[in-house]
Amino acid sequence: MPITFSTSRDVPDDAPVLAIPVFADGTVPAGSPAELDNDFLAARDFQGKVGQTLPLLADDGTTILAVGVGAAGEVDDDVLRRAAHAAVRNAGKANVVAMTLLDAAPGDADRGRAAQAIAEGASLGTYKFTTYKSDAKRSSVERVVLVTRAGNHVQRGLDRGSAIASAVALARDLINEPPGAMTPRRMEEVARAVAAEGGLTVDVWDEERIAADGLGGLAGVAAGSDEPARLIQLTYDPPGARGTLALVGKGITFDSGGLSIKTGEGMMTMKCDMSGAAAVIAAMAAIPAVAPKVRVLAFAACTENLPSGKAMKPGDVLKIRNGKTVEVLNTDAEGRLVLADALSLAVEQSPDGIVDLATLTGAMSVALGRDIAGLFSNDDDLADQVGAAAERAGEPMWRMPLAKRYRKQIDSEVADIKNIGAAGQAGSITAALFLEEFVGDVPWVHLDIAGPAFRADEDGYLPKGGTGYGVRTLVDLVANYRKPSRRR
Ligand code: BES
Ligand code: ZN
Ligand code: ZN
Repeated sequence: MPITFSTSRDVPDDAPVLAIPVFADGTVPAGSPAELDNDFLAARDFQGKVGQTLPLLADDGTTILAVGVGAAGEVDDDVLRRAAHAAVRNAGKANVVAMTLLDAAPGDADRGRAAQAIAEGASLGTYKFTTYKSDAKRSSVERVVLVTRAGNHVQRGLDRGSAIASAVALARDLINEPPGAMTPRRMEEVARAVAAEGGLTVDVWDEERIAADGLGGLAGVAAGSDEPARLIQLTYDPPGARGTLALVGKGITFDSGGLSIKTGEGMMTMKCDMSGAAAVIAAMAAIPAVAPKVRVLAFAACTENLPSGKAMKPGDVLKIRNGKTVEVLNTDAEGRLVLADALSLAVEQSPDGIVDLATLTGAMSVALGRDIAGLFSNDDDLADQVGAAAERAGEPMWRMPLAKRYRKQIDSEVADIKNIGAAGQAGSITAALFLEEFVGDVPWVHLDIAGPAFRADEDGYLPKGGTGYGVRTLVDLVANYRKPSRRR
């Protein structure tokens, strides 16, 4: 059950837990309902580190939960996310948690955005994938009351944060579902449900239409599988839209590598290979609640990648929707093949910008580790807008070079291009250069999320397994998108 969020001027009587922010120097914000003694905190090894908590029993039987928020000058939205998460996680068996965390934000902070971050942190941190657990333990917290004197925009921020957290939870669920359950056809059902809920339009390419419309990359990857592929488009089209953004997601519901098969170890987490598609579908679930004046086209290219007697073979040549031919030399470099078709379709609808998300290369997490996504772009303005959205959303990413000098690595002897570069050399860059072949001159950002999409361990409000990485950045980007007045 999602947590409900409300605001109150006074500390509510029925909240068994009151979380108050404590800075690294042991002080609390002015006007705090409780003062805490510095020596007392120090004696209990509490240094006010972000997310650190210390429960204290008050005279009236309620628990005062001291929540560390770090140095007073450094409280930003992600500190509030982490602190709100810590408050809810350490609320014991309480159903209602009151918190004064907004008081920790600096005086010039946007309180609506800060409230949004608090709701995100509180909700995201209670996520658990329990569908297949007989003895699922859930968080007891049902209601969070933000104690504040600020007005309506704070409640609107809480509502936004709650809608975004629900969308992130949807993405996590889609990723965490077993690959036998979350097939391309199941992805279509989910997308249809999201569309019905949010008043979006749906367009789906089934296997026949994929063949008829020349989506040769998607058809090639799907050839080895008994499950039919789906290319799913969702459209959000508000009146008075100022510009159009296309979102494109890699939706390999299981990546075995195909005939260029992975090791057993290598495919253990490969149900996560549809995390890009999950992020764009889930973002579309939250976008109506944010109501941006931007048209949004979301494409999810979904198929399994399996070996069989019908599978594409190393050496095969595929023809992509935009007419380019690709020599497939490694069937495990399949993401770029399905994205090539989806990007081509997106370009046909003349968007002002395209953002794709894909668990594209293992090389990306070699370069940037498991927490940070790589950003590649042919357009500085869109790259900056995506980077700024990611910063606000608290999703780390780093811009990588789309280095033209490596383009010759994907020249092919027999076709227009081949689907792999030189072994062990800038594999994430050559993958991005491959995608660039299909975006024409449309401003485009490619996010390689192979690192942050799926976690081996939990970290604060990020759970083990599917993280829903990208959903928050996409929603923020769409909400704040400015169409450039002039193209590059
Ligand atoms: N889905 C994988 C990339 C991946 C690896 C994502 C690990 C998340 C964690 C992708 O389809 C793939 O297999 N890429 C190959 C490309 C290579 C054959 C050029 C890779 O990274 O090894
Ligand atoms: Zn692969
Ligand atoms: Zn893959």
